[in-house]
Amino acid sequence: MFIKQLKDINKSLLNETIEAVVLLSQINVKTTKTDKKYADMVIQDVSKVMEAKYWDYEENEEKIKGFGNNPIVQIQGIVGEYNGQLQLTIRSLEKVDSDKVTIKDFIPASTIDFNSMEKALKQFYDKIEKPHLRELLDKMIFSEEFYQDFCTHHAAKKVHHNFYHGLLQHTLEVLKFVYTVAITKKLPQHRIDRLIVMTMLHDWGKMLEYKELPELGLTEEGMMIGHIVLSAHYTMNKIKEIHNFPEEDKLVIINGILGHHGSLEFGSPVLPKTVEAQILHAGDKMSGDIESILAFMKEDTEEETFTKKLWNMGTEYYKK
Ligand SMILES: [Fe+2]
Ligand SMILES: [Fe+2]
Repeated sequence: MFIKQLKDINKSLLNETIEAVVLLSQINVKTTKTDKKYADMVIQDVSKVMEAKYWDYEENEEKIKGFGNNPIVQIQGIVGEYNGQLQLTIRSLEKVDSDKVTIKDFIPASTIDFNSMEKALKQFYDKIEKPHLRELLDKMIFSEEFYQDFCTHHAAKKVHHNFYHGLLQHTLEVLKFVYTVAITKKLPQHRIDRLIVMTMLHDWGKMLEYKELPELGLTEEGMMIGHIVLSAHYTMNKIKEIHNFPEEDKLVIINGILGHHGSLEFGSPVLPKTVEAQILHAGDKMSGDIESILAFMKEDTEEETFTKKLWNMGTEYYKK
């Protein structure tokens, strides 16, 4: 049976043999107890990222290596279940002619129109009054060096916003949340200015933390330093290039970036020390949590009333 999209694979297909065209985005070669090589693979298309086993890797090692990086392949496999998750056991795989397909068609992307996101980002920038704060964003985001990457990068490996344009979509969501709080609580303009800047920059370091899609892993910089410190470090360096940048603004913005995970146990080296930083943390958490619940519910194709337990939230969600 040919499957058009991986999301169409559900429990009713258990033990069935299916065929699909997918992007092979990860191959982790392992060995069984009897010293035979097999591969844990990650396959994906626009609709879903899924794990697969390939027990016959050893016999086909040369062929698979010849596929190159991130090949698009036609697979045949059997639908199984492992630890409550659907998993595919691959029987055979053949590379698809690269003229016929493009990698972009296999990478999940934000469903929000890109032009409208670009416009919204600019609108928040325009709300900032202080020229030195605009200048910081000109250097960090609206520059030839970073703009393209900032607009296309993903914002996570799993859990939330792990798709093309994910960082931009997440940043905009947080901007909308924090701005609503700022207006509702009637914050003075200088605090609103700082809040917009720290929000735009809070996850900036994810551009350096995560490898380019379709790879979903961390870079060495990401592993060793992480996006919180990367964002703060680059921001500090850019601030140095700006003439007469006020010290208080620097401290408040850097604290907002460093404190955005809200607590030491979640990776922030300091706690949020300003009302702006606390608002940013709350907005960031809301964006991430809600997106993870919605994405989890969408992926869940089972017919039960509740989803499985979502580990980052610690509970199941009612689907009706
Ligand atoms: Fe973050
Ligand atoms: Fe964030």
